[in-house]
Amino acid sequence: MDWDNLGFAFLPTDYMYIMKCARGGEFSKGELQRFGNIEMNPSAGVLNYGQGLFEGLKAYRTKDGNILLFRPEENAIRMRQGAERMCMPSPTVEQFVEAVKATVLANKRWVPPPGKGSLYIRPLLMGSGAVLGLAPAPEYTFLIYVSPVGNYFKEGVAPIHLVVEHELHRATPGGTGGVKTIGNYAAVLKAQSAAKARGYSDVLYLDCVNKRYLEEVSSCNIFVVKDNVISTPAIKGTILPGITRKSIIDVARNQGFQVEERLVAVDELLDADEVFCTGTAVVVSPVGSITYLGKRVSYKNNGIGEVSQQLYSVLTRLQMGLIEDKMDWTV
Ligand code: COI
Repeated sequence: MDWDNLGFAFLPTDYMYIMKCARGGEFSKGELQRFGNIEMNPSAGVLNYGQGLFEGLKAYRTKDGNILLFRPEENAIRMRQGAERMCMPSPTVEQFVEAVKATVLANKRWVPPPGKGSLYIRPLLMGSGAVLGLAPAPEYTFLIYVSPVGNYFKEGVAPIHLVVEHELHRATPGGTGGVKTIGNYAAVLKAQSAAKARGYSDVLYLDCVNKRYLEEVSSCNIFVVKDNVISTPAIKGTILPGITRKSIIDVARNQGFQVEERLVAVDELLDADEVFCTGTAVVVSPVGSITYLGKRVSYKNNGIGEVSQQLYSVLTRLQMGLIEDKMDWTV
């Protein structure tokens, strides 16, 4: 295994975890299976009507050989909230966390050495039973697979370059933007592909009502720093409640920063000191420039700002077990 050149691409590992449940029932006993393709009825709810959710979390190998998970119960809770919105049963928090642990341990040889990356854990919940008329599927599958990963963006730890999208939207009030349903991610591909073709790293979405307030980037949340005050769009149903987002808010407050969760107008990007993104996959990613209506704003020091560097350092050292975990976040 070439641990020095991990990107964010799927690599097959040894085992996956599968647990099934009928509509109206409860998940009970799952099992580890050799990793491989799964069979599904072509009429499965997830394939026809998008009745599906996913999660993402990471396992890190520590210097003393332990393996740490970061706040896995938060992913379990978010999956349960999403399942309620998508009319699906979901595993209990305990079932979810135990399944994650079992899957990681079965694949422990794929957890990269300390400092070389992490094992990305991808839990899925899907309507696997057959439906033809639009209705919740009669059967559900909870599945976890894992893959070793390095940096998400091809820029690595270097700053990313965003373009603000003002025609296409990611989410609407009352829609599903606030849960991790699979369709939210297919919906951003068109704008993302167009942006990448023009040399940008990704797209920043605005609210669809006023076309004025920041929402999120295709795969991560956004933070704006001005005069040492850190602001991020408040969670109001159209923005994914990121676990890294929530953790960074707590870390920043513990470090003495003022953090505001509020409406953040797109104009605030123009005179911000720093902008950065957060997410499980992207961790904390500094933003080097943002282009809005053809105008490009570049941030000083090519976007490598002191605040994002400080928060990145504290968060990743916590996740890797390099500093004391006073909040009890690691498992
Ligand atoms: C994650 O950050 O874990 C996500 O689920 C985003 C995904 C597009 C990679």
